[in-house]
Amino acid sequence: MFPVNRYRRLRKNDTIRRMVRETSLSADDFIYPLFVTFGKGVRKPISSMPGCFQESIDEAVKNAKESYALGIPSIILFGIPEHKDELGTGAYDENGVVQNAIKAIKDAVPDLYVITDVCMCEYTNHGHCGVIEKGEVENDKTLRLLAMEAVSHAKAGADMVAPSDMMDGRVGAIRGALDENGFGGIPIMAYAAKYASGFYGPFREAAESTPQFGDRRSYQMDPANRREALREISLDIQEGADVVMVKPALSYLDIIADARASFAIPLAAYNVSGEYSMVKAAEQLGWIDGKRVMIEILTSIRRAGADLILTYHAKEAAEIING
Ligand code: PBG
Repeated sequence: MFPVNRYRRLRKNDTIRRMVRETSLSADDFIYPLFVTFGKGVRKPISSMPGCFQESIDEAVKNAKESYALGIPSIILFGIPEHKDELGTGAYDENGVVQNAIKAIKDAVPDLYVITDVCMCEYTNHGHCGVIEKGEVENDKTLRLLAMEAVSHAKAGADMVAPSDMMDGRVGAIRGALDENGFGGIPIMAYAAKYASGFYGPFREAAESTPQFGDRRSYQMDPANRREALREISLDIQEGADVVMVKPALSYLDIIADARASFAIPLAAYNVSGEYSMVKAAEQLGWIDGKRVMIEILTSIRRAGADLILTYHAKEAAEIING
Protein backbone atom coordinates (compact mmCIF):
# COMPACT_ATOMS: atom_id res chain seq x y z
CA MET A 1 0.00 0.00 0.00
CA PHE A 2 1.04 3.60 -0.63
CA PRO A 3 3.47 5.07 0.39
CA VAL A 4 5.35 1.78 0.81
CA ASN A 5 4.44 0.66 -2.70
CA ARG A 6 5.39 3.14 -5.38
CA TYR A 7 5.11 1.61 -8.86
CA ARG A 8 6.85 4.57 -10.42
CA ARG A 9 10.15 3.24 -8.97
CA LEU A 10 10.33 0.67 -11.74
CA ARG A 11 9.46 3.19 -14.45
CA LYS A 12 12.24 5.62 -13.62
CA ASN A 13 14.44 5.23 -16.70
CA ASP A 14 14.71 3.22 -19.86
CA THR A 15 17.11 0.67 -18.41
CA ILE A 16 14.84 -0.41 -15.56
CA ARG A 17 11.83 -0.33 -17.89
CA ARG A 18 13.69 -2.71 -20.21
CA MET A 19 14.46 -4.99 -17.25
CA VAL A 20 10.85 -5.39 -16.13
CA ARG A 21 9.25 -5.37 -19.57
CA GLU A 22 6.85 -8.32 -19.90
CA THR A 23 6.46 -8.49 -23.66
CA SER A 24 9.13 -8.54 -26.34
CA LEU A 25 8.85 -7.74 -30.02
CA SER A 26 11.37 -9.13 -32.46
CA ALA A 27 11.70 -9.43 -36.22
CA ASP A 28 11.57 -13.20 -35.56
CA ASP A 29 7.86 -12.81 -34.80
CA PHE A 30 6.97 -11.34 -38.19
CA ILE A 31 5.53 -12.90 -41.32
CA TYR A 32 5.57 -10.39 -44.18
CA PRO A 33 2.79 -10.58 -46.83
CA LEU A 34 3.71 -10.07 -50.49
CA PHE A 35 1.33 -9.60 -53.44
CA VAL A 36 2.76 -11.24 -56.50
CA THR A 37 1.50 -10.45 -59.98
CA PHE A 38 2.34 -11.40 -63.57
CA GLY A 39 4.73 -9.46 -65.82
CA LYS A 40 8.26 -8.16 -65.31
CA GLY A 41 9.63 -5.12 -63.55
CA VAL A 42 6.18 -4.37 -62.10
CA ARG A 43 5.99 -2.58 -58.76
CA LYS A 44 2.54 -1.05 -58.62
CA PRO A 45 1.67 0.86 -55.45
CA ILE A 46 -1.53 -0.19 -53.68
CA SER A 47 -3.19 3.17 -53.10
CA SER A 48 -5.11 2.14 -49.99
CA MET A 49 -2.01 0.55 -48.42
CA PRO A 50 0.85 3.09 -48.62
CA GLY A 51 4.18 1.24 -48.69
CA CYS A 52 2.69 -1.95 -50.18
CA PHE A 53 2.92 -3.03 -53.80
CA GLN A 54 1.72 -5.54 -56.32
CA GLU A 55 5.00 -6.92 -57.57
CA SER A 56 6.06 -9.13 -60.42
CA ILE A 57 8.21 -12.11 -59.46
CA ASP A 58 11.55 -10.39 -60.14
CA GLU A 59 10.58 -7.51 -57.84
CA ALA A 60 9.16 -9.87 -55.21
CA VAL A 61 12.52 -11.65 -55.15
CA LYS A 62 14.25 -8.33 -54.34
CA ASN A 63 11.68 -7.60 -51.64
CA ALA A 64 12.13 -11.09 -50.19
CA LYS A 65 15.92 -10.60 -50.04
CA GLU A 66 15.55 -7.25 -48.29
CA SER A 67 13.10 -8.69 -45.78
CA TYR A 68 15.37 -11.59 -44.94
CA ALA A 69 18.32 -9.22 -44.56
CA LEU A 70 16.27 -7.27 -41.99
CA GLY A 71 15.92 -10.44 -39.92
CA ILE A 72 12.37 -11.28 -40.97
CA PRO A 73 12.36 -15.08 -41.23
CA SER A 74 9.21 -15.55 -43.27
CA ILE A 75 6.90 -14.23 -45.97
CA ILE A 76 3.39 -15.20 -47.01
CA LEU A 77 2.52 -15.03 -50.70
CA PHE A 78 -0.73 -13.88 -52.29
CA GLY A 79 -1.16 -14.20 -56.04
CA ILE A 80 -2.86 -11.96 -58.57
CA PRO A 81 -3.24 -14.10 -61.70
CA GLU A 82 -3.42 -12.81 -65.26
CA HIS A 83 -6.80 -14.48 -65.85
CA LYS A 84 -9.59 -15.29 -63.45
CA ASP A 85 -12.31 -17.84 -64.11
CA GLU A 86 -15.29 -19.57 -62.52
CA LEU A 87 -13.23 -22.36 -60.94
CA GLY A 88 -10.16 -20.32 -60.08
CA THR A 89 -7.89 -22.56 -62.16
CA GLY A 90 -4.97 -20.14 -61.66
CA ALA A 91 -4.89 -21.23 -58.02
CA TYR A 92 -3.67 -24.76 -58.75
CA ASP A 93 -1.84 -24.17 -62.04
CA GLU A 94 1.69 -25.60 -61.80
CA ASN A 95 2.85 -22.53 -63.72
CA GLY A 96 0.70 -20.12 -61.74
CA VAL A 97 2.00 -16.85 -60.43
CA VAL A 98 2.45 -18.06 -56.83
CA GLN A 99 3.97 -21.38 -57.89
CA ASN A 100 6.56 -19.58 -60.01
CA ALA A 101 7.17 -17.01 -57.30
CA ILE A 102 7.89 -19.75 -54.75
CA LYS A 103 10.51 -21.29 -57.02
CA ALA A 104 12.20 -17.96 -57.76
CA ILE A 105 12.22 -16.83 -54.14
CA LYS A 106 13.44 -20.18 -52.75
CA ASP A 107 16.21 -20.15 -55.39
CA ALA A 108 17.32 -16.66 -54.41
CA VAL A 109 16.86 -16.86 -50.61
CA PRO A 110 16.76 -20.55 -49.65
CA ASP A 111 16.56 -19.91 -45.90
CA LEU A 112 13.61 -17.55 -46.11
CA TYR A 113 10.57 -19.51 -44.91
CA VAL A 114 7.95 -19.27 -47.66
CA ILE A 115 4.32 -19.63 -46.61
CA THR A 116 1.48 -19.51 -49.14
CA ASP A 117 -2.07 -18.33 -48.71
CA VAL A 118 -4.38 -21.09 -49.92
CA CYS A 119 -7.69 -19.65 -51.10
CA MET A 120 -9.75 -19.31 -54.26
CA CYS A 121 -10.92 -15.69 -54.05
CA GLU A 122 -7.95 -14.14 -55.86
CA TYR A 123 -8.42 -16.58 -58.74
CA THR A 124 -12.20 -16.73 -59.27
CA ASN A 125 -14.01 -14.24 -61.50
CA HIS A 126 -16.77 -13.93 -58.88
CA GLY A 127 -14.30 -13.23 -56.07
CA HIS A 128 -15.65 -15.83 -53.66
CA CYS A 129 -13.46 -18.28 -51.79
CA GLY A 130 -14.93 -21.39 -53.42
CA VAL A 131 -17.04 -23.03 -56.11
CA ILE A 132 -20.40 -21.34 -56.72
CA GLU A 133 -23.53 -23.44 -57.08
CA LYS A 134 -27.02 -21.94 -57.09
CA GLY A 135 -25.57 -18.64 -55.94
CA GLU A 136 -23.83 -20.16 -52.93
CA VAL A 137 -20.31 -21.26 -52.11
CA GLU A 138 -20.40 -25.07 -52.21
CA ASN A 139 -18.28 -26.32 -49.33
CA ASP A 140 -17.34 -29.88 -50.23
CA LYS A 141 -16.54 -29.27 -53.91
CA THR A 142 -14.28 -26.41 -52.86
CA LEU A 143 -12.24 -28.74 -50.64
CA ARG A 144 -10.89 -30.65 -53.62
CA LEU A 145 -9.67 -27.45 -55.31
CA LEU A 146 -8.07 -26.17 -52.12
CA ALA A 147 -6.28 -29.50 -51.70
CA MET A 148 -4.98 -29.26 -55.30
CA GLU A 149 -3.84 -25.69 -54.67
CA ALA A 150 -1.98 -26.65 -51.48
CA VAL A 151 -0.26 -29.60 -53.19
CA SER A 152 0.79 -27.40 -56.12
CA HIS A 153 2.36 -24.92 -53.69
CA ALA A 154 4.20 -27.73 -51.89
CA LYS A 155 5.44 -29.11 -55.23
CA ALA A 156 6.80 -25.67 -56.11
CA GLY A 157 8.75 -25.66 -52.85
CA ALA A 158 6.58 -23.85 -50.30
CA ASP A 159 7.65 -24.44 -46.70
CA MET A 160 4.14 -24.11 -45.22
CA VAL A 161 0.59 -23.65 -46.52
CA ALA A 162 -2.05 -21.43 -44.95
CA PRO A 163 -5.71 -21.98 -45.90
CA SER A 164 -7.76 -18.79 -45.48
CA ASP A 165 -11.05 -19.81 -47.12
CA MET A 166 -13.01 -20.88 -44.01
CA MET A 167 -14.64 -23.93 -45.65
CA ASP A 168 -15.52 -26.66 -43.16
CA GLY A 169 -13.12 -29.60 -43.25
CA ARG A 170 -10.42 -27.93 -45.32
CA VAL A 171 -7.56 -28.53 -42.93
CA GLY A 172 -8.27 -32.27 -42.95
CA ALA A 173 -8.69 -32.31 -46.73
CA ILE A 174 -5.42 -30.44 -47.27
CA ARG A 175 -3.55 -32.58 -44.72
CA GLY A 176 -4.75 -35.74 -46.46
CA ALA A 177 -3.79 -34.49 -49.92
CA LEU A 178 -0.35 -33.33 -48.80
CA ASP A 179 0.33 -36.68 -47.12
CA GLU A 180 -0.84 -38.69 -50.15
CA ASN A 181 1.45 -36.70 -52.41
CA GLY A 182 4.58 -37.14 -50.32
CA PHE A 183 4.38 -33.83 -48.45
CA GLY A 184 3.83 -35.21 -44.98
CA GLY A 185 6.53 -32.84 -43.71
CA ILE A 186 4.81 -29.64 -44.84
CA PRO A 187 2.97 -27.91 -41.97
CA ILE A 188 -0.40 -26.17 -42.17
CA MET A 189 -1.10 -22.79 -40.61
CA ALA A 190 -4.90 -22.58 -40.45
CA TYR A 191 -6.71 -19.27 -40.56
CA ALA A 192 -8.78 -20.91 -37.82
CA ALA A 193 -10.78 -18.03 -36.38
CA LYS A 194 -11.27 -15.74 -39.34
CA TYR A 195 -14.02 -13.17 -39.01
CA ALA A 196 -16.16 -11.57 -41.74
CA SER A 197 -14.51 -8.20 -41.26
CA GLY A 198 -14.68 -4.73 -42.75
CA PHE A 199 -10.97 -4.46 -41.98
CA TYR A 200 -10.17 -6.50 -45.13
CA GLY A 201 -11.25 -3.61 -47.39
CA PRO A 202 -7.81 -2.44 -48.57
CA PHE A 203 -6.61 -6.04 -49.08
CA ARG A 204 -9.35 -6.60 -51.60
CA GLU A 205 -7.95 -3.75 -53.69
CA ALA A 206 -4.47 -5.23 -53.25
CA ALA A 207 -5.48 -8.77 -54.22
CA GLU A 208 -8.32 -7.79 -56.55
CA SER A 209 -10.55 -10.24 -54.70
CA THR A 210 -13.72 -8.30 -53.89
CA PRO A 211 -16.78 -10.61 -54.13
CA GLN A 212 -18.84 -9.64 -57.17
CA PHE A 213 -22.10 -10.48 -55.39
CA GLY A 214 -23.04 -10.95 -51.76
CA ASP A 215 -20.40 -11.10 -49.05
CA ARG A 216 -18.40 -13.67 -47.06
CA ARG A 217 -20.69 -13.91 -44.05
CA SER A 218 -21.85 -17.42 -44.90
CA TYR A 219 -18.35 -18.79 -44.40
CA GLN A 220 -16.33 -16.34 -42.30
CA MET A 221 -17.20 -15.90 -38.62
CA ASP A 222 -19.63 -13.41 -37.13
CA PRO A 223 -17.62 -10.64 -35.37
CA ALA A 224 -20.00 -10.91 -32.40
CA ASN A 225 -18.93 -14.46 -31.52
CA ARG A 226 -16.23 -15.28 -28.99
CA ARG A 227 -16.84 -18.87 -27.85
CA GLU A 228 -17.27 -20.04 -31.43
CA ALA A 229 -13.62 -19.13 -32.10
CA LEU A 230 -12.48 -21.77 -29.63
CA ARG A 231 -14.64 -24.38 -31.36
CA GLU A 232 -13.19 -23.43 -34.77
CA ILE A 233 -9.62 -23.55 -33.45
CA SER A 234 -10.13 -26.85 -31.69
CA LEU A 235 -11.58 -28.43 -34.83
CA ASP A 236 -8.66 -27.23 -36.97
CA ILE A 237 -6.20 -28.68 -34.44
CA GLN A 238 -8.03 -32.02 -34.55
CA GLU A 239 -7.86 -31.96 -38.36
CA GLY A 240 -4.09 -31.50 -38.22
CA ALA A 241 -3.29 -27.78 -38.10
CA ASP A 242 0.27 -27.12 -36.91
CA VAL A 243 -0.23 -23.40 -36.28
CA VAL A 244 -3.56 -21.63 -35.80
CA MET A 245 -4.39 -18.03 -36.59
CA VAL A 246 -6.80 -15.39 -35.35
CA LYS A 247 -7.77 -12.75 -37.90
CA PRO A 248 -8.11 -9.75 -37.75
CA ALA A 249 -5.92 -8.99 -34.74
CA LEU A 250 -6.64 -5.59 -33.26
CA SER A 251 -10.39 -5.81 -32.68
CA TYR A 252 -9.96 -9.47 -31.69
CA LEU A 253 -7.34 -9.32 -28.94
CA ASP A 254 -9.80 -11.07 -26.61
CA ILE A 255 -9.95 -13.98 -29.05
CA ILE A 256 -6.14 -14.12 -29.19
CA ALA A 257 -5.98 -14.16 -25.38
CA ASP A 258 -8.65 -16.89 -25.19
CA ALA A 259 -6.83 -19.00 -27.77
CA ARG A 260 -3.52 -18.56 -25.93
CA ALA A 261 -5.11 -19.65 -22.65
CA SER A 262 -6.89 -22.65 -24.16
CA PHE A 263 -4.36 -24.23 -26.54
CA ALA A 264 -0.65 -24.97 -26.39
CA ILE A 265 -0.24 -24.81 -30.19
CA PRO A 266 1.75 -21.95 -31.82
CA LEU A 267 -0.58 -19.02 -32.36
CA ALA A 268 -0.47 -16.46 -35.15
CA ALA A 269 -2.47 -13.25 -35.53
CA TYR A 270 -3.09 -11.31 -38.74
CA ASN A 271 -2.64 -7.55 -38.39
CA VAL A 272 -4.84 -7.02 -41.46
CA SER A 273 -4.90 -4.42 -44.21
CA GLY A 274 -7.50 -2.11 -42.63
CA GLU A 275 -5.56 -1.99 -39.37
CA TYR A 276 -2.44 -1.06 -41.33
CA SER A 277 -4.16 1.52 -43.54
CA MET A 278 -5.80 3.31 -40.60
CA VAL A 279 -2.39 3.88 -39.04
CA LYS A 280 -0.96 5.11 -42.36
CA ALA A 281 -3.90 7.43 -43.01
CA ALA A 282 -3.84 8.99 -39.55
CA GLU A 283 -0.07 9.36 -39.80
CA GLN A 284 -0.36 11.13 -43.18
CA LEU A 285 -2.88 13.54 -41.67
CA GLY A 286 -0.45 14.24 -38.85
CA TRP A 287 -2.93 12.99 -36.27
CA ILE A 288 -0.75 10.28 -34.73
CA ASP A 289 2.90 9.31 -34.51
CA GLY A 290 2.62 6.39 -36.94
CA LYS A 291 5.80 4.59 -35.92
CA ARG A 292 4.99 4.75 -32.24
CA VAL A 293 1.43 3.54 -32.80
CA MET A 294 2.67 0.73 -35.04
CA ILE A 295 5.03 -0.58 -32.33
CA GLU A 296 2.28 -0.23 -29.72
CA ILE A 297 -0.18 -2.21 -31.86
CA LEU A 298 2.32 -4.97 -32.62
CA THR A 299 3.30 -5.16 -28.96
CA SER A 300 -0.36 -5.42 -27.93
CA ILE A 301 -0.88 -8.35 -30.28
CA ARG A 302 2.09 -10.11 -28.70
CA ARG A 303 0.90 -9.16 -25.20
CA ALA A 304 -2.50 -10.72 -25.95
CA GLY A 305 -0.66 -13.99 -26.62
CA ALA A 306 0.27 -14.28 -30.30
CA ASP A 307 3.61 -15.92 -31.10
CA LEU A 308 3.64 -14.79 -34.72
CA ILE A 309 2.25 -11.68 -36.40
CA LEU A 310 1.41 -11.42 -40.07
CA THR A 311 1.92 -7.73 -40.76
CA TYR A 312 2.47 -5.26 -43.60
CA HIS A 313 4.50 -3.25 -41.07
CA ALA A 314 7.12 -6.04 -40.87
CA LYS A 315 9.98 -4.24 -42.64
CA GLU A 316 9.54 -0.81 -41.03
CA ALA A 317 9.04 -2.40 -37.62
CA ALA A 318 12.13 -4.59 -38.06
CA GLU A 319 14.16 -1.48 -38.95
CA ILE A 320 13.09 0.20 -35.71
CA ILE A 321 13.61 -2.89 -33.57
CA ASN A 322 17.05 -3.52 -35.08
CA GLY A 323 17.94 0.11 -34.23
C1 PBG B 1 -8.36 -14.46 -48.71
C2 PBG B 1 -7.77 -13.54 -47.72
C3 PBG B 1 -8.23 -12.28 -47.29
C4 PBG B 1 -7.26 -11.77 -46.44
C5 PBG B 1 -6.26 -12.74 -46.34
N1 PBG B 1 -6.61 -13.82 -47.13
C6 PBG B 1 -9.40 -11.48 -47.68
C7 PBG B 1 -10.76 -11.91 -47.41
O1 PBG B 1 -11.02 -12.94 -46.78
O2 PBG B 1 -11.64 -11.19 -47.89
C8 PBG B 1 -7.29 -10.43 -45.76
C9 PBG B 1 -5.98 -9.87 -45.38
C10 PBG B 1 -5.98 -8.44 -45.04
O3 PBG B 1 -7.00 -7.73 -45.01
O4 PBG B 1 -4.87 -7.94 -44.80
N2 PBG B 1 -9.52 -15.11 -48.34
